[in-house]
Amino acid sequence: MEYKIAMDENFKLDIRKRPRRLRKSDAILSLCEETRVNPSDLILPVFIKEGKSGASEIESMPGVMRHTIDSLFRVCEKALKRGVKAIAPFPQVDPKSKSDRADEALNAKSLANRAISAVKKRFPEMALIADIALDPYTTHGHDGILDSSGQRILNDETVEILSGMALMAAQAGADFVAPSDMMDGRIGAIRSALDECGFVDTAIMAYSAKYASAFYGPFRDAIGSSPNGGQKQGKPKKYLDKRGYQLNPANVREALKEAALDEEEGADVLMVKPAGAYLDVISKVRASTSLPIAAYQVSGEYSMIMAAAQRGWIDLERAKRESLIAIKRAGADMILTYFA
Ligand code: PBG
Repeated sequence: MEYKIAMDENFKLDIRKRPRRLRKSDAILSLCEETRVNPSDLILPVFIKEGKSGASEIESMPGVMRHTIDSLFRVCEKALKRGVKAIAPFPQVDPKSKSDRADEALNAKSLANRAISAVKKRFPEMALIADIALDPYTTHGHDGILDSSGQRILNDETVEILSGMALMAAQAGADFVAPSDMMDGRIGAIRSALDECGFVDTAIMAYSAKYASAFYGPFRDAIGSSPNGGQKQGKPKKYLDKRGYQLNPANVREALKEAALDEEEGADVLMVKPAGAYLDVISKVRASTSLPIAAYQVSGEYSMIMAAAQRGWIDLERAKRESLIAIKRAGADMILTYFA
């Protein structure tokens, strides 16, 4: 049997529906575009350190710097100029200020709180999202305090400290407090503490579905929450096991349960983290609530794209845009991203 291919350019299939009509030109493509990422959808996470001048590089996050409060001002100015109107500062705490019980977390004049009030004063229009978790402050790098055996994170005691920490951040001028610790009951406790002290307008952005992910590695370098510079007996400690409180990557119903609890307890925004490998979670949480959804494109997601682009294996601009569009398409209203 012989199959004859029509070589005539005017050959036409007998079809009426041709979706490619809508991909004919840039103008038509953009008319039909379903999702757009605007600078005002983005939240820029920034790393801060003590000192007067000089930002320093973070080896595992090409292009991302640790800033002093002074150099942070320049970052804010540039961000605002480009339409990015929110930042989320994360402190690299001096090892001398760390302790098993994270005492520095309750210091009203901690690096994080000083940065928040300085930025709020200088750029009142900038939305400030304060991280509420103990990992920058504990010697062991966990998000909570440990029991006497050193094996378990104490939930309720940790929540007490987090509530105090949230108050300090609110007092410093944070618009949002964002508990990223995954302890039980923290949203309710923080809401009560804020309300009791008159901070009724401080909002809570809850890291509701935060997974025990391998993609946080570079972040732990950035804030130095990997004890002993990331190495202990040749074992990379930045892969600290947080499965006792963060979610199992295999689960999605559990994320919906956490999101529902946080909403009930008074969260204003729910977050899914990481983002790229959890698009199904974003879309399911989106369908389960009318609250705004945030998604965090984490350090490892950023660094993978940057590393491949640096080797010339992918096109940075396109990969960056595509990764963010996917997160928005899945249902995120706002995205925390180092690309901001
Ligand atoms: C911990 C915290 C983590 C990130 C933000 N806050 C990681 C962790 O659980 O160790 C990760 C962000 C990133 O990887 O970009 N409170």
